[in-house]
Amino acid sequence: MSRDLYLDLLKNVLTDQIYHPSEARLEGTDWPENGFTMVGLKRLENIQICAMKVIEENIEGDFLEAGVWKGGASMFMRAILKCFKIRNRTVWIADSFKGLPSPKSEYPADKGNSLYQYEKLAVSLEQVKQNFRALNLLDEQTQFIEGWFHETLFDAPVNKIALLRLDGDMYESTYVSLEALYNRVSIGGFVIIDDYGYVESCKQAVHDFLNKNSLSPIIQKIDWTGVYWRKE
Ligand SMILES: C[S@@+](CC[C@H](N)C(=O)[O-])C[C@H]1O[C@@H](n2cnc3c(N)ncnc32)[C@H](O)[C@@H]1O
Repeated sequence: MSRDLYLDLLKNVLTDQIYHPSEARLEGTDWPENGFTMVGLKRLENIQICAMKVIEENIEGDFLEAGVWKGGASMFMRAILKCFKIRNRTVWIADSFKGLPSPKSEYPADKGNSLYQYEKLAVSLEQVKQNFRALNLLDEQTQFIEGWFHETLFDAPVNKIALLRLDGDMYESTYVSLEALYNRVSIGGFVIIDDYGYVESCKQAVHDFLNKNSLSPIIQKIDWTGVYWRKE
């Protein structure tokens, strides 16, 4: 009961529903000035559902988010582990901490993507750590992977993953993350793709990766943009 109250309160704080309740914050359609995550309540609830499933069913592995912005969705993952007193899983927080990369010619689907120019998307590692600290969530079970995904994720010191959340907004960021990390997702683990509905090139990256590897998971919708599937 008190766990539910804590997690419900935290969802309202992280999304900024607590001070600026809105349809946009429920759905996660905006970039909140004060909240710690762009993700809305529905996608935080999806994290909770997936995390609880892997905990209840003892699916081995850590939680990892690639693309964290101010850190709110990853903070929520750490809070779930904390309130269930789970000490054998780490939350990995991967980001450049300086925004998105400029589009590369080897990924034509990213052509014209101008998100790398948005300063608001560049949140420093120190600021993200400060956000975790502010809610008492910064400790040895939070590990940061700083740098561009193509340079950091392939050799990241992560073994098994039970919950993989990709929120990198681009073809490159999605495809590279899947290439680097999908093999490490445990059977029964979850893969969440935040931008699947919103960013066409992200959806394309998912299907290019799945087709290349002859995979056809059952992709389920979370809300207007987010989807997830369970690795069989
Ligand atoms: C939409 S934001 C993530 C939102 C976040 N999950 C939340 O809860 O609000 C996208 C993030 O992905 C990061 N990013 C995108 N592509 C990247 C790449 N190729 N390498 C490293 N970081 C990347 C950006 O720095 C940014 O912080």
